[in-house]
Amino acid sequence: MKPAFLTILSLLLPASTLGSRRETNSASACTQACSRLVRDSDITTHFPGNGNFSAWDTKQQNVRSACRVEPRSREDVSTILSIILDTSCQFAVKSGGHARYPDDSVSVGGVTIDLQRMRTTEVLPDQTKVRLGAGHTLYSAYADLEKYNLTTLGGRAASVGLGGYTLGGGLSHLSPVYGLAKDNVFEYEIVLPNATVTIVSEHTNPDLYFALRGGMNNFGIVTHFTMRAVSQTQFYSGQKSYSADKRDIIADIAYELTTGSGKSDTAMSFYYDFGYDQETDNYTLAFTQEYSHPKLNPRPFYRLNRVPSESSTLRIDWSTSFSREVDSATPPGGRNLFATVSYYPSADLDRQIQDIMVEELQSVKETPGFLPNLVIQPLYEASIRASRERGGSAAGLDADGPLTVVLLTTLWNNASDDGAMNTFVSNWVEKSTAATRDVGKHHPWMYINYASKEQEPYSGYGKENLERLRRIQRSVDPDGVFTSSGLCRGYFKLL
Ligand SMILES: Cc1cc2nc3c(=O)[nH]c(=O)nc-3n(C[C@H](O)[C@H](O)[C@H](O)COP(=O)(O)OP(=O)(O)OC[C@H]3O[C@@H](n4cnc5c(N)ncnc54)[C@H](O)[C@@H]3O)c2cc1C
Ligand SMILES: *[C@@H]1O[C@H](CO)[C@@H](O)[C@H](O)[C@H]1NC(C)=O
Ligand SMILES: *[C@@H]1O[C@H](CO)[C@@H](O)[C@H](O)[C@H]1NC(C)=O
Ligand SMILES: *[C@@H]1O[C@H](CO)[C@@H](O)[C@H](O)[C@H]1NC(C)=O
Ligand SMILES: *[C@@H]1O[C@H](CO)[C@@H](O)[C@H](O)[C@H]1NC(C)=O
Ligand SMILES: *[C@@H]1O[C@H](CO)[C@@H](O)[C@H](O)[C@H]1NC(C)=O
Repeated sequence: MKPAFLTILSLLLPASTLGSRRETNSASACTQACSRLVRDSDITTHFPGNGNFSAWDTKQQNVRSACRVEPRSREDVSTILSIILDTSCQFAVKSGGHARYPDDSVSVGGVTIDLQRMRTTEVLPDQTKVRLGAGHTLYSAYADLEKYNLTTLGGRAASVGLGGYTLGGGLSHLSPVYGLAKDNVFEYEIVLPNATVTIVSEHTNPDLYFALRGGMNNFGIVTHFTMRAVSQTQFYSGQKSYSADKRDIIADIAYELTTGSGKSDTAMSFYYDFGYDQETDNYTLAFTQEYSHPKLNPRPFYRLNRVPSESSTLRIDWSTSFSREVDSATPPGGRNLFATVSYYPSADLDRQIQDIMVEELQSVKETPGFLPNLVIQPLYEASIRASRERGGSAAGLDADGPLTVVLLTTLWNNASDDGAMNTFVSNWVEKSTAATRDVGKHHPWMYINYASKEQEPYSGYGKENLERLRRIQRSVDPDGVFTSSGLCRGYFKLL
């Protein structure tokens, strides 16, 4: 069932012509794809502006697709992909819709395959694994699992999609024990680039299994993840805010929690935020404590909890509740850019990258809606170890000791400021990276889900991994459907 158009065109035309042919045909190809979806399938199909649809970032929310489809099963996804391949229409795949560039998960003029109806939860009989639909949000997965007193490797914000989160990596409060979400997937169910469904595990397809652990959307459309289920009821978490003059002590404590004796208690995890507040023209500081047992004020946070704070939401509660709290602090809407650097832990470097943000924002701080924020968190040895288990992973990490992973988020209102915001972010990346190099603490790994399009996260996976990833990509997708010259071009492409 190799799609006919690809066979014929690739026989007749060189690859470059194929690319441009697709481009010029796109509008009529997609009109045809959408009408065939309506005529030949019973899959819910929406035309622009129609239906219950939201993307986190305004740049993506404003995108017009030819149509948006809501598959309910792997068979639906396969049918959709077959029609798309037949008609040669471009497409994008959306799970939680938190990506930040048009075409990442909302197709510009093509078909948006919206997985939001694929939210099944099947706890396997021994309760150590759970099979989750790829359209879950972290919230919907948590809510289903809490009924069993279980959870899985999930992130902090409720509305983030399990799809992008897990395919890119997945930092979780359980990472100090189990590693990233990608290292806790035992099996993937995927619709391959030729629209056939297959199961990928360490044993059935070791190459693709390696590739899907960090290789994002280059290999097909994942429909289900079978993930580790972890026993958990309520636990301790929440955020304290501090006045910005506590910056030094907070950086020191974060360093100690990353490298000192506190980290041996793997129930503990944390991240902290340093941001700029336009209204007060001042800086904000907040620290999120996580401890995966229902224990108030656990030992690792004793020193931190003696530092005077301005406000606190610390409590014992459910993942659903904590994830809603994080979500409400990062509501949808507005234009956003993310960017990242990684380095060997250093309180001085934390301060330097903050100082760089402070310097760089001076010239753009009047930008309407401007809200930059640095999120600083550890990546512990367990995550590095876990990335090597079961045959290793694409986003394999080679580091001796824990790392610090930094995310710069930047929010603003108007498209007319996109250029200035891009410059702000790239200056921060360039200067922060240089600062980490200057002190010999640079690490090339970049968390792909935090990277900007100007960064090259796959290069940070290492030369060998990248070459292997590209080899696997070519073999699974010989027609290049999921490449930068193919039909699904969004996010980060290997080829
Ligand atoms: C407010 C906020 C909070 C965050 N918190 C965390 C956190 O705590 N920890 C963390 O690690 N990260 C976090 N992130 C980053 C987050 O993991 C990434 O933005 C992630 O890619 C979002 O996934 P999504 O499914 O919501 O996005 P989408 O835009 O739907 O997907 C992202 C990309 O993955 C592709 N994709 C998604 N599902 C599939 C699939 N099933 N098959 C093939 N391709 C697919 C899409 O096509 C798209 O290119 C956060 C981001 C935001 C905006
Ligand atoms: C819209 O979709 C969300 C999930 O994405 C769901 O929770 C909500 O109930 C839906 N609303 C309507 C009106 O269908
Ligand atoms: C979950 O745990 C609580 C207390 O820890 C217990 O009362 C409840 O019965 C458990 N529920 C399930 C489904 O095991
Ligand atoms: C900014 O916050 C600090 C406390 O962190 C305070 O001392 C200072 O006065 C504030 N500056 C302004 C302009 O409000
Ligand atoms: C920018 O955004 C603000 C607030 O959202 C709005 O009032 C203003 O008109 C916008 N300016 C431009 C140039 O678009
Ligand atoms: C689809 O692609 C897979 C992976 O390359 C291959 O094993 C399979 O034979 C292909 N199926 C068809 C029907 O072409």
